[in-house]
Amino acid sequence: MAHIPVDLQYTANKQSDSRPPIAALRNVSKVFGSVIAADALNLSIAQGEFLSFLGPSGCGKTTALRMLAGFEAPTSGDVLIDGQAVNDLEPYRRPVNMVFQSYALFPHLNVSDNIGYGLRQRRPRLSRGEIAGKVGRALEIVRLTGFESRRVWEMSGGQQQRVALARAIVNEPKLLLLDEPLAALDRKLRKEMQIELQDLQRQIGITFVLVTHDQEEALSLSDRICVMRGGRIVQTGSPQDLYDQPKSRYVADFVGTSNFFDGTIDAVVDGIATLATRSGLRLQGAATAGLSVGAAVCLSVRPEQIRMSRDAVPGGLACTVHNRIFLGEHTEYLVQHPALGTVNVLTPRLIESGDMSFQTGEQVHINWNPGRALVLSPD
Ligand SMILES: Nc1ncnc2c1ncn2[C@@H]1O[C@H](COP(=O)(O)OP(=O)(O)OP(=O)(O)O)[C@@H](O)[C@H]1O
Ligand SMILES: [Mg+2]
Repeated sequence: MAHIPVDLQYTANKQSDSRPPIAALRNVSKVFGSVIAADALNLSIAQGEFLSFLGPSGCGKTTALRMLAGFEAPTSGDVLIDGQAVNDLEPYRRPVNMVFQSYALFPHLNVSDNIGYGLRQRRPRLSRGEIAGKVGRALEIVRLTGFESRRVWEMSGGQQQRVALARAIVNEPKLLLLDEPLAALDRKLRKEMQIELQDLQRQIGITFVLVTHDQEEALSLSDRICVMRGGRIVQTGSPQDLYDQPKSRYVADFVGTSNFFDGTIDAVVDGIATLATRSGLRLQGAATAGLSVGAAVCLSVRPEQIRMSRDAVPGGLACTVHNRIFLGEHTEYLVQHPALGTVNVLTPRLIESGDMSFQTGEQVHINWNPGRALVLSPD
């Protein structure tokens, strides 16, 4: 993105930022009739941060965003912006803009008028020249210069999406809320727009809160992700934290792919738990906090942590190769264990050469470093 105006460039260092949070939720709940759409949400959003809410349909993502924007009042708890409770503050009085799940552009207005709409409502009034300048700059940022007088229905989905973004950033909000902004786009355009969004956020330094149910999108864009379930935030962390240290099976399953084996903890020695499966197998993984001997648990082993060999190895499990899926850089194997069922193994190309390539029907042995598998709460 060329020519980002200097006054919109972002220079602050996110890590050493000691400014107060731009926004926060303090024990925020929202009840619709018998549905608890938000259940005691607690969260601080740092200035300049790219935060995502990730979770399945109906888990309360949009509700959380609408409360930050002011379109929904919490049933209890406080929404803070810049340290002030804003529960009763109208949306247009908040330094916040929201890009809706459907872009909600005005079909009867052209691109410029859509983008400038909010600016024209401002009091005291802005001059025509000021409005044109700001609109032009926003168009430049989303790379739509030249589209000023196009009707929105004469544009592609991706272009309309960018108009919606421009309409939000033109107001220079402190906080930009994006509700599934890329959901309507095809995969390729989605990828391109993800990169544009990330560039945009880095360059203009606005705090972004993104809602998505696409884990790949959340992982690739966010500084931090809040994983939600049934109105609750179940875990918040950096993409890598969530991937490497999920606190539950739910998070491990939602962030990345994993194999899960149920069992009961038999023993814990030096942080490594041995669990017994119902079929009497003994499997090992790193113990996580709060789980002790006798607890019903779930062992999570990421496919890329599993090693496969033709020779038997101590502690290895004999399996049959069921399926081999060539994925370019990786090969994915689905191997069958008589008691554990299908196990997903991902082998990098580097290892997958010569006689280390396995064929369907072959007998293999799988194992993993116990320190790289996680014993988790089963729900
Ligand atoms: N205005 C409303 N009236 C009644 N129930 C509502 C209302 N808005 C949301 N809900 C309910 O609250 C829950 C959370 O809805 P929300 O829209 O926040 O989910 P979401 O995570 O954004 O889902 P999706 O991914 O499908 O957009 C759902 O059960 C929904 O049916
Ligand atoms: Mg939603």
